[in-house]
Amino acid sequence: MAGMIPRCELRSDYDISRIIKGGWQLSEGHSQALSDDPVADMFAFVEQGIDTFDCADIYTGVEALIGRFIAANRQRAEPLAVRVHTKYVPDYGELGQLTKAKVEQIIDRSLSRLGVEQLDMVQFHWWNYAAPGCEQAAQWLAELQQAGKIALLSLTNFNSEQTRALLEAGLTLATTQVQYSLLDPRPEKSLIGLCREHGMQLLCYGSLAGGFLSDRWLGEPDPTAPGGPGLDNRSLIKYRLMIEEAGGWDALQDLLGGLKAVADRHQSSIASVAARWVLDQPQVAAVILGARNAAHVDRCEQIFRLKLDEEDRAVIAALRGQLGVPAGDVFDLERDKNGPHGRIMKYDLNSD
Ligand SMILES: NC(=O)c1ccc[n+]([C@@H]2O[C@H](COP(=O)([O-])OP(=O)(O)OC[C@H]3O[C@@H](n4cnc5c(N)ncnc54)[C@H](OP(=O)(O)O)[C@@H]3O)[C@@H](O)[C@H]2O)c1
Repeated sequence: MAGMIPRCELRSDYDISRIIKGGWQLSEGHSQALSDDPVADMFAFVEQGIDTFDCADIYTGVEALIGRFIAANRQRAEPLAVRVHTKYVPDYGELGQLTKAKVEQIIDRSLSRLGVEQLDMVQFHWWNYAAPGCEQAAQWLAELQQAGKIALLSLTNFNSEQTRALLEAGLTLATTQVQYSLLDPRPEKSLIGLCREHGMQLLCYGSLAGGFLSDRWLGEPDPTAPGGPGLDNRSLIKYRLMIEEAGGWDALQDLLGGLKAVADRHQSSIASVAARWVLDQPQVAAVILGARNAAHVDRCEQIFRLKLDEEDRAVIAALRGQLGVPAGDVFDLERDKNGPHGRIMKYDLNSD
């Protein structure tokens, strides 16, 4: 069954599963119930071929949790191969005052939490382009890569202009992790073209919009309408805002209805159609799915049993044509601290 999950090469000596197991949903403070045994779940994913995990220095408790999995894996007679992609997200309040020692301290902390000698990938995030030091911090990460502490250096949530600036400064970047979905096509504006030019690939989150792009929400009333139950986890709050950018709850329902018809042609699901569509786009190496527990493994495999044909693609193109397109480039809306997307972010999670 492991053969069901295709792989993608990021470098001649480095490949990943095209579904990456997301870690944010495992973090303290995300407010979704965790599995009883998250380490056993990680084994279940890897055994089925989903051997690439995403986490971050700021996902509270998650690097340490994956570290427990790595330690348990090492005890096995034949340890399983696994890739762990983490992030370096310096606190908003620290930007402009970073030193190489501070950067190295966070990288060392990730090494220690994971219990490894080299981080497979570090994805660099920078909250505020007006703050000085972004390129310098990236160069320090490249030096730590040279020193052997990091295998691949990547970005997350950089817009096209700032990605280009780092590439022109001579950095070698493997991937960029960005939001990309049927509701959020911002990478198509220019980032995908830039990545193609520079041999970078996309690792995509939000492809299921926190679960809104699934059968679960088809025909449901807007939970945020007056008198509604509201939303109980941070992903849904974040993606509900993106739905607004795409035209609102009715627009989501029209999209879900159309996707359901596509899914039914293939005995599949809305989530599989949504994820498969992203995986079929140029430069997309993988989608990162917020899979909380082993129950999600089968659903991941379903994505690759599905093949979208010409007719499906035409239906999906027409559905997309009816949606609004979020303003700006990748993460520009979220970067505005005073706007609705920026106001729900947590900016200073890195301090111990
Ligand atoms: N770089 C960044 O700024 C950033 C931001 C957000 C996320 N991420 C990364 O991306 C990962 C994924 O997060 P996301 O925000 O993109 O969430 P997502 O994958 O869009 O949505 C996750 C939710 O979708 C549902 N789901 C997952 N697989 C499904 C399937 N096959 N069929 C139906 N429903 C499914 C699950 O709901 P149930 O559990 O209720 O079934 C899950 O909680 C995170 O864990 C994190 O690693 C990165």
